[in-house]
Amino acid sequence: MPETILILDLGSQYTQLIARRVREKNVYSEIVPHTIKASEVRARSPKGIILSGGPASVYDHGAPTIEKGLLDLGVPVLGICYGLQLGAELLGSKVAAAPEREFGRTECSFDTSCDLFKSLKEHSVVWMSHGDRVDDLKGDFRAIARTASSPQAAVQHRTRPFFGVQFHPEVAHTEQGGSILENFVRGICGCKGDWNLGDFIDLETRKIRDQVGEKGRVICGLSGGIDSAVVALIVDRAVGERLVCIFVDNGLLRQGEVASVEAAFRPRFGNRLRVVSAAERFLERLRGVTEPERKRREIGHEFIAVFKEAAQGVEGARFLAQGTLYPDVIESLAAHGGPTATIKTHHNVGGLPAELGFELVEPLRFLFKDEVRALAKTLGLPPALVRRQPFPGPGLAVRCLGEVTAPRLRVLAAADAIVQEEFEKAGLLERIWQSFAVLLPVKTVGVMGDQRTYEEVCALRAVDSQDGMTADWVRVPYDLLQVVASRIVNEVRGINRVCYDVTSKPPGTIEWE
Ligand code: XMP
Repeated sequence: MPETILILDLGSQYTQLIARRVREKNVYSEIVPHTIKASEVRARSPKGIILSGGPASVYDHGAPTIEKGLLDLGVPVLGICYGLQLGAELLGSKVAAAPEREFGRTECSFDTSCDLFKSLKEHSVVWMSHGDRVDDLKGDFRAIARTASSPQAAVQHRTRPFFGVQFHPEVAHTEQGGSILENFVRGICGCKGDWNLGDFIDLETRKIRDQVGEKGRVICGLSGGIDSAVVALIVDRAVGERLVCIFVDNGLLRQGEVASVEAAFRPRFGNRLRVVSAAERFLERLRGVTEPERKRREIGHEFIAVFKEAAQGVEGARFLAQGTLYPDVIESLAAHGGPTATIKTHHNVGGLPAELGFELVEPLRFLFKDEVRALAKTLGLPPALVRRQPFPGPGLAVRCLGEVTAPRLRVLAAADAIVQEEFEKAGLLERIWQSFAVLLPVKTVGVMGDQRTYEEVCALRAVDSQDGMTADWVRVPYDLLQVVASRIVNEVRGINRVCYDVTSKPPGTIEWE
């Protein structure tokens, strides 16, 4: 095992961020439920323990707690917000509602003689989110940071390796948060910081082998995107011949997408890559459907039916590998739940329901998108796949407004290919979140040569975003718009007018449907 920091999840929305920040310091971290036994922690020999924040008050009935023996292991502990209050209470202090609550941006002063704040600037902004505070009646703790309303914005126990911060060092708004966590994991816990993504792959490979056993067979649904591609490569390392990948060609993909998936995976997987050509089935299902939500539902149901049939052809497969990422993991039930920690996952359109009866293998469930991109590079995925912009599960159908028919899909795919090509040439494709064409069910009059035309309108959409939740339209150079527009109108029969979408999200969404 690599040098490990264990993060006990007490229900904070930031628990994953703590794990990520620690990994950024090249130290392996793992999130475990707060109900973990001290004996189990001892057996795992972590270099340090972090107690996350959480929404409860330690004096609430049934508030999440930890086994007190965890604080007696001699392993350094850092409590963050609720984690600080819980640790302090277990070590004999009282926690009560603070006279003044602190939320958001707060000026903080640090005692830089303390190892936790070594080499920091003495004053900087921290991000607070708390209504309780510790009353250290016995004087066991030494204050090592203060704000205008918190004389003990951070504390250090006088005799034990216990540190606590009332603020959140893991969030980007805490200016020196990264350095504080680095001081904890490297300086105080003594981690060397020699862990890297290659180690992550090895570790997940071993975990998958343990989960799947000697004989288990695994199915992986490839989508053409980076997440499922990375999952397939990791599972392949773990179980080799016992992995079968299924790629459903739903006829709603971008131009050249089936070929690029074949090119990337056929050499490696041979006939373990099964491409299911189901375009006609999807089109049939979409016949006459124009309402956006119904389109998504029909596509989702058809996908499940097609995938199920394909999976039945893989004898003895009991496991399904999926590219679930942390943003898909919406709720940790561990914080307030019983001793068995469950991570509840949700899957957007294109995901598969539990009724299919597979046991899930989800090696990326604690990772963020940029970490997956880094993994993809380490695994040697082709650069074009690594840089690929997100593409929605229902594919071109939600960009083909009105009825989805084979001829209209061909028109849209051709226009979209021009957008991709020109944005790539302009060096924009990798720098922005998404750029694509939308086909509108609106005909307008035009003139080409001496001929009157009466064809559909194409909208261009290019947006920048961190996570798809909010987005702004990209100020694309006019010259690029001009080239794209004139190529589409000249080269794509069926479109005679191009518009550019200048709506941010909110109020618009990124996709038009
Ligand atoms: P919206 O349109 O909601 O899109 O602003 C936000 C991001 O999510 C992608 N998207 C989807 N991805 N299945 C997916 O896998 C879907 O059903 C889906 N709908 C939207 C969209 O491309 C954008 O990046």
